[in-house]
Amino acid sequence: MFAILPFSDAEVSIALQLAEHLCCVCLPVMSPRDVSEYEQVLWIHPEGLAIQQTGQKAPGPVRVDFLQGAQAHRRLFGGGAGQSVAKAIGIKGKRRPTVLDATAGLGRDSFVLASLGCEVQMFERNPWVAALLADGMKRAAEDPEVGPIIDRMKLFQQDGKDYLTSLTAQSQALNADVIYLDPMFPHSDKSAEVKKDMKAFRTLVGADEDSAELLAAAVAANPCRIVVKRARKAPAIEGVVPSMVLEGKSGRFDIYTFRALPD
Ligand SMILES: C[S@@+](CC[C@H](N)C(=O)[O-])C[C@H]1O[C@@H](n2cnc3c(N)ncnc32)[C@H](O)[C@@H]1O
Repeated sequence: MFAILPFSDAEVSIALQLAEHLCCVCLPVMSPRDVSEYEQVLWIHPEGLAIQQTGQKAPGPVRVDFLQGAQAHRRLFGGGAGQSVAKAIGIKGKRRPTVLDATAGLGRDSFVLASLGCEVQMFERNPWVAALLADGMKRAAEDPEVGPIIDRMKLFQQDGKDYLTSLTAQSQALNADVIYLDPMFPHSDKSAEVKKDMKAFRTLVGADEDSAELLAAAVAANPCRIVVKRARKAPAIEGVVPSMVLEGKSGRFDIYTFRALPD
């Protein structure tokens, strides 16, 4: 259970609205260090919405920031179309496949693909994560350089598996060439000691236990290709066997090809 924490009196009314939307408690203005009943709060901060761990020794906030830090660095110096995720999706020459990211999370992979020119539909089922992502997109949309990239990203706060299943049930065509999946994998304690943002994120989201159903729904939706991001030693998602595997810097991509991508 989480709570909303306004940074100052100026954020109280927005905090109350968000608390109503997310059906949770809104705390009075105070420092996250002084909150003891909740392990994490969603902090309405002037610099943007953030997940903030509480207590005296808590690390800093985690927010979606497409304008500075790691995302900006990767956009400017990350290797462009040579990055593994771009190759896995099928970016080549002028080809820019349309993508449905059914596990949007903090939108980092979608942002890379949109930066390279792909139109991306993003589905995120966790309302807290979707709120963080929507907030990061809203701030970035106002930037003259990054705004056009954000225009290529559309966020739906919905379960991607439900969406894909409903398309199939209604015999509707999928409006994307590639389905991209990056579900949370159950992690060992050791790997949970990684970066603070992933730790806070894991507490918020937990493991995605239904990845096999998600992959099956993706196959049934009839894309040209499905790309699944996995930790290097994680097994492939149960079900269909990948057509090929691409090793990346920090993990691997299992690629399921069904037909050629349009040029
Ligand atoms: C590992 S994170 C994805 C990180 C993302 N690729 C990024 O670059 O930021 C997994 C996310 O997928 C979401 N998720 C898992 N299954 C989903 C589903 N069926 N529909 C929508 N979201 C899902 C989880 O809530 C979580 O936020």
